[in-house]
Amino acid sequence: MNSQTGFYLSLQPWNIYYIMLDKIKALAEEISRVKPKSLAELDEIRIKYISKKGIISQLFDDFRVVAPELKKEVGKALNELKNLAMDKINTAKEELEIQDQGAHDLDLSAPGDSIGLGSRHPLALVRNRIIDLFGRIGYNVMEGPEIEDDWHNFTALNFAAEHPARDMQDTFFIEKNPDVLLRTHTSNVQIRVMERTQPPIRAIFPGRVFRNEAISARSHCIFHQVEGLYVDENVSFADLKQTLLFFAQELFGVDTKIRLRPSYFPFTEPSAEMDVSCSICGGKGCNLCKYTGWLEILGCGMVDPNVLDACNIDSQKYTGFAFGMGIERITMLLYGVKDIRLYFENDVRFLQQFRSAL
Ligand code: PHE
Repeated sequence: MNSQTGFYLSLQPWNIYYIMLDKIKALAEEISRVKPKSLAELDEIRIKYISKKGIISQLFDDFRVVAPELKKEVGKALNELKNLAMDKINTAKEELEIQDQGAHDLDLSAPGDSIGLGSRHPLALVRNRIIDLFGRIGYNVMEGPEIEDDWHNFTALNFAAEHPARDMQDTFFIEKNPDVLLRTHTSNVQIRVMERTQPPIRAIFPGRVFRNEAISARSHCIFHQVEGLYVDENVSFADLKQTLLFFAQELFGVDTKIRLRPSYFPFTEPSAEMDVSCSICGGKGCNLCKYTGWLEILGCGMVDPNVLDACNIDSQKYTGFAFGMGIERITMLLYGVKDIRLYFENDVRFLQQFRSAL
């Protein structure tokens, strides 16, 4: 006999009735609130309430002294309490076992999730290849500003004040008079370099350029160029042609042929545009080269003596050549990219295709 039961025994049966009903109610509330966090905690709860010496078992002991006419009601309440406790314990057990199971399924020796590797942007890949191949024939890399004045983008490059070539470049102006603009080509770096360096100069200038053009599959208002400049004594058009042949064969393959067509740029004289034999059909004619067998790649020419003079380089003593190419177009030809806008959307499904590219 425990002390509680002893206490009940000394009371009148109707008092026990009230006390037991209150106690059952309070216990029912208490039990519905319990929330064991582990199987060990659950076992403690089971022992506390429904084991042989638990609170509910004690109440069943006390029940024996309840007056016979009140037994039915108290018995019912007691049974409900016992069922509630058993249900509670059983469901909690199920839940905790599932949790526990999950914990055991965790294989702590398994390798972690791999972190996906990034990839170089195709324009950077091609730019780096161009830098690398020119590096092998002695060209340094230099850069100039994207925000430029009229002098470096136009006037020093021999664009006459009212020359229509200025309009052809679809310039973005930031300010007018004096003009501040976004460079329309990397030729501004020719001036920047020649203004501060005397020949010999042999360098390439990769960079971003801007033109106010409608955006389509073939053109964008932002794109990238690589400019080349070689100024020294006795630099000839033959040097230009041989340099460009080397470039074309390094980039597009040793069987590549080049052809130079007369053209016009204010800052070169004579000027030319260079085509390479189509890398897809090898010159036989296909969709890519529009059945001409040739692909236009870059503009070039001998540096106009006026440009050398504008930079205080003696045009009697020195000659030079320059060339400029668009990286987007070359990348399109090398990798079969059909839409220039893909370069700027940064869709990983596009970018990841260049994972294994050189
Ligand atoms: N700057 C010219 C262009 O953007 C390309 C070029 C560079 C032509 C150097 C000749 C010499 O079209």
